[in-house]
Amino acid sequence: MQKRKIEDEIKYWNLLKNPIRLYGWFYPIVLVLLLFLGIKYVKNLDKISLNEVAYTNIDSADVKRNVELKKGGIAPAFNISLIMTPSPEMKIRGQELFTANCVSCHGDGGKGDGDAGANLNPKPRNFATLDGWTNSRDFSGMFKTLREGIAQNGMAAYEYLPVFDRVAIILHIQTLAEFPAVTEQNVTNLDMQYSLSKGIEIPNQIPVDVAVSKIVSENKIVTDKAELFYSGNNFSQDENLLLNEFVSDKKKAFVNIQRSAINTTNITTFLESLKFNPSDFGLSNRILIVGSKQQEELLTLFRKIKNI
Ligand code: HEC
Repeated sequence: MQKRKIEDEIKYWNLLKNPIRLYGWFYPIVLVLLLFLGIKYVKNLDKISLNEVAYTNIDSADVKRNVELKKGGIAPAFNISLIMTPSPEMKIRGQELFTANCVSCHGDGGKGDGDAGANLNPKPRNFATLDGWTNSRDFSGMFKTLREGIAQNGMAAYEYLPVFDRVAIILHIQTLAEFPAVTEQNVTNLDMQYSLSKGIEIPNQIPVDVAVSKIVSENKIVTDKAELFYSGNNFSQDENLLLNEFVSDKKKAFVNIQRSAINTTNITTFLESLKFNPSDFGLSNRILIVGSKQQEELLTLFRKIKNI
């Protein structure tokens, strides 16, 4: 067999003489193609990032129910030793609350025979039965029921009652039938789970529609301000050149700078705050590839916008 001559170096022009060896061109052709596509990609970055996420229908099960306007605060700490040794006041309170809130369904004696529960399926729990409870029958199970409710079966949550009241009700229920005794360990576990003895911080809450209209009106103030700002003679010629080159949506950029979505502290935090997608903030993607001198100039300009 003829021995092949190994060439030290590929002589591309020789490849032309033997067409089958044109396969040798594969590498440089792919290289040029990739280079071409790469340049095209970088040049079109602005437009590429404008692609929108496909529209999806909102699943109504995911929509949270509206909440009422409520001032938050600290739910008072609860003295957990009262669970083991309830005060006389607590016993009275438990009885009162049970009569006011629960008897209609669960009945006076807790047998599940209240008038309002007659048509419910499943029936309101008869506290004397041992089996078939959805949550458990011990203290922590009933605490969970009162806190979260069993909505699908018609048992409401009573989380709005202070812990003291909820504990009082459960202790009252426990006088209506035989229940597993509460141990120190049960109490400790319950406290760990719901931090009863520390008190719980409850955040302020405002209804969704009020929140939305507040955001809309706040945004309007800033966008109005943006319009005024750009329409006046606030920029030098150089600054205007910079703005035209690197800001694709002046109003959007203004709002984002004012609202600190764009961080103008230094180049590093600035670039980080853009999260690699300047066009989301009304800026041109070219910002990411220009030299640091121009980036500095822009930052100075943005700081000026921030301080108005
Ligand atoms: C509108 C009727 C209604 C009212 C009012 C009501 N409940 Fe119920 N309750 C039910 C129904 C129905 C169930 C059965 C739920 C199930 O089987 O999952 C139930 C179950 C329970 C259970 C057992 C949960 C389990 O693990 O199975 C407890 C404890 C309970 N209720 C406590 C109370 C207390 C305390 C009150 C008053 C603060 C109250 N309920 C008021 C209807 C009611």
